[in-house]
Amino acid sequence: MPTGPSATAVAHPNIAFIKYWGNQDDALRLPANDSLSMTLGGLQTTTSVTLAPDDQSDEATLNGNRLTGPALERISRHLDLIRRRAGRRERAVVISANDFPTGSGVASSASGFAALTVAACAAYGLDLPAAELSRLARRGSGSACRSLFGGFVVWPATGDDATSHGQPLAAADHWPLVDWVVVVDRSAKHVGSTAGHQLATSSSLQPSRVQTCPHRLAVATQAILARDFAQLAEVAELDSDLMHAVMMTSSPPILYWQPASIRVMHQVRGLRRAGTPVFYTLDAGANPHCLCPAESAEDVGRALESVPGVVGLLRAEVGGPARILSTVVDQAG
Ligand code: DP6
Repeated sequence: MPTGPSATAVAHPNIAFIKYWGNQDDALRLPANDSLSMTLGGLQTTTSVTLAPDDQSDEATLNGNRLTGPALERISRHLDLIRRRAGRRERAVVISANDFPTGSGVASSASGFAALTVAACAAYGLDLPAAELSRLARRGSGSACRSLFGGFVVWPATGDDATSHGQPLAAADHWPLVDWVVVVDRSAKHVGSTAGHQLATSSSLQPSRVQTCPHRLAVATQAILARDFAQLAEVAELDSDLMHAVMMTSSPPILYWQPASIRVMHQVRGLRRAGTPVFYTLDAGANPHCLCPAESAEDVGRALESVPGVVGLLRAEVGGPARILSTVVDQAG
């Protein structure tokens, strides 16, 4: 049993309306383009980090399963960054759990590395401002840097390690949107994001997606600040389609969509044509996220449930920032 200082943190996943796809620097996770997301309240990762001064290596458990191999190494490398920054050497025991199902189409690396960063910094005695925590979280998983903040968050592609972090755009209570995560496929994705980012430059469409991104970011930012749903719907669907076009035309190509994903996309477009405000966006997977104002959430949910091939729906709202739940300074004393 480790007896060193311990900290527990929670963080929410996020859904990007302007997508991060491809890096300028893979090792540092410096993105090729700006991105913008909404933090997903109602879904969360809880992670505790306890220092284990007598242990020779880090240990990690996710949802009750002991991690080994590349998954453990990724966490250990992240802890190394934090240890170096804190000038500490102790190994740690990490216990993490998601309250949303694996295979639901909700990326757990964003909430996972955000919660790990916040808990580990507290356990190692590092008191850092949110921007610095975000910068560290980015090194574990790019999209995690946005989960440090609540509400609507921008991650500008500054091309520079020192300035590459999430920036809050609007607080969680700015605009009550609902995200229906439409589950059409529970299996693990065949190409993970880290491998996918490295393929982005092999698509001839990536340069044009990257070059036109600042305009889409400006439109999405303006739409969020003005709570203009129609404008956000148009630019977010375009941005998602552009990212998937890059994925589909990279070498080797990646096709994340399943037939039911496309049926959901048609349903969403049909609903919108008929006057219901809703739009879709898909990350690196088959399960569409469908966004709508809170007041239409029940109608939209019913319409999505009826699409053939839909096996489940998860509801998320706009969430708050990553935060410490508890700390224990010295369990031995
Ligand atoms: C498609 O942040 O998961 O969800 O840094 O390799 O962990 P790694 O990648 P990750 O990439 C997310 C890609 C995306 C779009 C987005 O969230 O912006």
